[in-house]
Amino acid sequence: MVKREHWGTRYGFLMAAIGSAIGLGNIWRFPYITYKSGGGAFFIPYLFALITAGIPLLVLEIGLGAKTRRSSPLAFEKLTGKKRYGWVGWWATIGSLLLVSYYSVIMAWTLSYLIKAPTLAWGTDPNTYFMKDFLGWTGNPLNLGGIRLEILIALVVVWTINWLIVGKGVRKGIECVTKIMIPLSWIIIAILVIRSLTFPGAMEGVNWYLNPDFSKLRNPRVWLDAYGQVFFTLSVGQGAMIIYGSYLKGKSDIVNNSFIIAFADSIFAFLAGFAVFGTLGFMASQMGVGIDEVVVSGAELAFVTYPKAISMLGAGSGIIGVLFFFLLLMAGLSSSICLTEVSTGGLMGSFKMSRKKAATVACGVSLLAGIIYTTGGGFGWLNLMDNYINYFSLALVGALEALLIGWVFKARRFRIWVNFTSEICVGRWWDWCIKLVTPFILVTTLVWTSMSILKAGYPIEAPYPSLALLLGFLIILAGMIAAFLCVRLTKVDVTREKFKV
Ligand code: TRP
Repeated sequence: MVKREHWGTRYGFLMAAIGSAIGLGNIWRFPYITYKSGGGAFFIPYLFALITAGIPLLVLEIGLGAKTRRSSPLAFEKLTGKKRYGWVGWWATIGSLLLVSYYSVIMAWTLSYLIKAPTLAWGTDPNTYFMKDFLGWTGNPLNLGGIRLEILIALVVVWTINWLIVGKGVRKGIECVTKIMIPLSWIIIAILVIRSLTFPGAMEGVNWYLNPDFSKLRNPRVWLDAYGQVFFTLSVGQGAMIIYGSYLKGKSDIVNNSFIIAFADSIFAFLAGFAVFGTLGFMASQMGVGIDEVVVSGAELAFVTYPKAISMLGAGSGIIGVLFFFLLLMAGLSSSICLTEVSTGGLMGSFKMSRKKAATVACGVSLLAGIIYTTGGGFGWLNLMDNYINYFSLALVGALEALLIGWVFKARRFRIWVNFTSEICVGRWWDWCIKLVTPFILVTTLVWTSMSILKAGYPIEAPYPSLALLLGFLIILAGMIAAFLCVRLTKVDVTREKFKV
């Protein structure tokens, strides 16, 4: 039997896991959600979600990996002693593959924009440039148009990088690279925060970001958004932390590490808010408008608004642009490496493939699946799949794993097990969070969102054709069925294996 790989040091594991957590979610989602959901007041639901669901799930996933020392499908089979529960792990793995197939396309855009930044190649109208000239967005996912060659080439580059790193292995590849990337990301965010706070009008922007509006907390949607943000940003519900946890050495701490990962990730997001809103404040003051007229999130923030603001800076603007897109690339790559490792580790474990072969299959399949997002209709597919994956994969897997460990394996048993090697212990509160709070919130979110899509379509402002919504859902369904087949095809039986504590 091939010996299981391990992290070289605790610091190495922490950098890889924090790298997985820090990503687009911190830079382009958190600041906007905070602003929209009550500014400083949003920290209450956010911290509440972090403590009652985010950290408990992180402890669960890292603990599950560390104690079973298996990739996510086998971890569930080994823990429950039942092969059928491997489905949860496989659906998580396929979900991570679907996620990385579009996440890597955003990385490809970022790479292209990094090259454009020094010359401000987006010109005077970054919106038209991004939507029409760059993406060739047809306005309808069913109208694919052609493949955008520039994006496809960048995508191949991104996948080559992922393949090289993941193919090298846990210690020589992932750990080695994230140990450089993550500290570098903190340095860049520090520079960006300091620089953007000195822009004229920046303080006005920060005021909009943090000015508390407690009345927003009465809206249940704000609370669900907080939970959604916490799940996405901590990379839970996708087998990611299970696979990273499975490379921990026998007596490693689990609880303290989970707290460190969760807080490092949250502090990074909080800082990113200053860089984003400082810049937005500057832009609004230059244009003589209120910040509510310029604030956006997601792709629009990074590829339209931010470039526009950079162009207004005058001298030295190219450097800020390069730093911003470089940061986005670092943060995104450290997440996509982790996502790639989920399927690579899954294939190695269940089908006894060598690392090189598994990484090649994982990268090749994800690249092929990503081609649709490089077409003129790709922008629509990207938005649609992002929405579906968040709920039908992330939320569903999160709820199922909490239920399985809470009720089938028994939360108390798992807690004692995890505390055994941890520097700090989780108390009984953890059991209730896993048994009740987490599944309840996740199922509520899932039902609520499905109803809203059925009622109002997606996106609500200008819904895509129903056929596109249906096709997207069929892809999800096909993934769920494929997960079932993978359980059937698994060559390894771990249901009788003993745990090493
Ligand atoms: N946490 C990442 C971000 O904030 C995104 C993400 C979600 C992720 N699930 C993941 C990354 C699983 C790695 C593995 O952008």
